[in-house]
Amino acid sequence: MPAQISCLKGAEMNHIESIENAYLEVENGLIKAFGEMQNCPIYSGEIIDGTNKWVMPGFVDSHTHMVFAAPRHNEYVMRLQGKTYEDIAAEGGGILNSAKSLQNTSEDNLYSMAYAYAHNAMACGTSAFEIKSGYGLSTDAEIKMLRVIKRLKENLPITVKATFLGAHAIPAEYKQNRQGYIDLIINEMLPIIAKENLADFIDVFCDSGFYTVDETNCILDAGLKVGLRPKIHGNELGLTGGVQVAVAHNALSVDHLEHISEVEIDCLLKSNTMPVILPGSSFFLKIPYSPARQMIDAGLPVAIASDFNPGSSPHYNLWFTMSLACLYNKMLPKEAFNAATINAATALDISDTHGSITNGKKACLQITRAFEDINEMPYWFGQNHTEKLLVG
Ligand code: NIG
Ligand code: FE
Repeated sequence: MPAQISCLKGAEMNHIESIENAYLEVENGLIKAFGEMQNCPIYSGEIIDGTNKWVMPGFVDSHTHMVFAAPRHNEYVMRLQGKTYEDIAAEGGGILNSAKSLQNTSEDNLYSMAYAYAHNAMACGTSAFEIKSGYGLSTDAEIKMLRVIKRLKENLPITVKATFLGAHAIPAEYKQNRQGYIDLIINEMLPIIAKENLADFIDVFCDSGFYTVDETNCILDAGLKVGLRPKIHGNELGLTGGVQVAVAHNALSVDHLEHISEVEIDCLLKSNTMPVILPGSSFFLKIPYSPARQMIDAGLPVAIASDFNPGSSPHYNLWFTMSLACLYNKMLPKEAFNAATINAATALDISDTHGSITNGKKACLQITRAFEDINEMPYWFGQNHTEKLLVG
C-alpha cells in the first residue's frame, strides 16, 4: 500500500491505495522504495516472497494498559451474574483491585509478563504500542510501572511510548481526601517522572465516579508544565466533559467516547485532538459502542485501539478490534484499517515514522495470509491474519 501522508479524516478514511504484484525494498530499517514488480530493482539482499499475500503497515496500538499483575476473571464472573463495572469499582474492586496486586508484584515479574504480552501482540501485527501506568496509585508503584515500561522500550524491537496515568482511580486511603492524592501526583510523582524521563504523555480517567473536569484540568496543567502532552480517558461512562477538557489542553487524543453528542463532535472538529475508540471495552463490558460512523460522517478522523487491560478489555489482537469496529461502531473495513494504522500513529505522535508504507518511514510491516480483497479481513472475525511482522 503506497503513501499516506498524515491522518485521514471523514470520507478520506475509506480509501486505501494498493498495488497488485508489487515489490517493496527495505534498507537500514527504512522503507527505501516500492512499486510494481516490473520496476523492481536488481537486489542482492535477503528476499521474502509474499506471493498472494498483502504487505501492509504494522498496526499501531495507541492505548494499552499492558503492565499489570493479574487477570480479573473473578470480576468477569460477577458481571456475568449481574453486577456492573461501576458497582464493582465502587466496592473497591476494579482498578483498585489491580493496584493491590501490582503493589505486591516485583518489577521483574511485571516486566516478564508484559514482555510476553507484547510478543503475543506483535505476532498479531502490532508494530508500536502505547503503555500506560495507572495500576500503581502510589508513588513507589507508579514509578515501578513506569520503569517496567522503560525497560520494555529498551528491549522490545518496536516503538513503545509511555503514558503516566497516576489519575486512574482514587486510592481507597484517599477517598475522603481526593485533593491529597492529586497533590501527591503533582508534587511527588510528576517531579520524579520528569527527572528520570519516565513518560512521554499524561492521562487522567475523567469520568463519572473517577476524576472530575476540575481535577483533570489541574493534573493536565501540571503535566504540561513538565512537557507531558495529554492523552485522556473520557466519555466512557457518560457525557462528563472529558472531550472538552482534552481539547482545551490540546490533547493528542481523547479515548473511549462511548457517550458523545453533537456538542463533543463540534468541539473535536475544531481541534487537533484525535478521537480514539476502544471497541474491545464496549464488547467486554457490554456498554454502548462509540458512534464512529457519526463522527466520520461529520468529517472527523477516528483511530481504534485495543485498550488491552485486565478489567475492561483483555485482548490485544487488533484484527479482532477491526471486526468489532466494523460490526458495532459501523465503520467500513478500509476505515477500520486506516484507524488502526495511520490514524493510530497520529494518536501516538509517531505518524512521521509509522502507520503507512511511505518511503523513508520505518519498515514496520506485516505480511498477511492470502486474501483476494481487503474487505475479507475483518469478515473473518476473531482470527490472526498476520503471518509475519517485520520490524526494520
Ligand atoms: O480504559 N476506563 C479506564 N481504564 C481502563 C480500564 C481499567 C480497568 O478496569 O482495569 C479502560 O477501560
Ligand atoms: Fe484504557
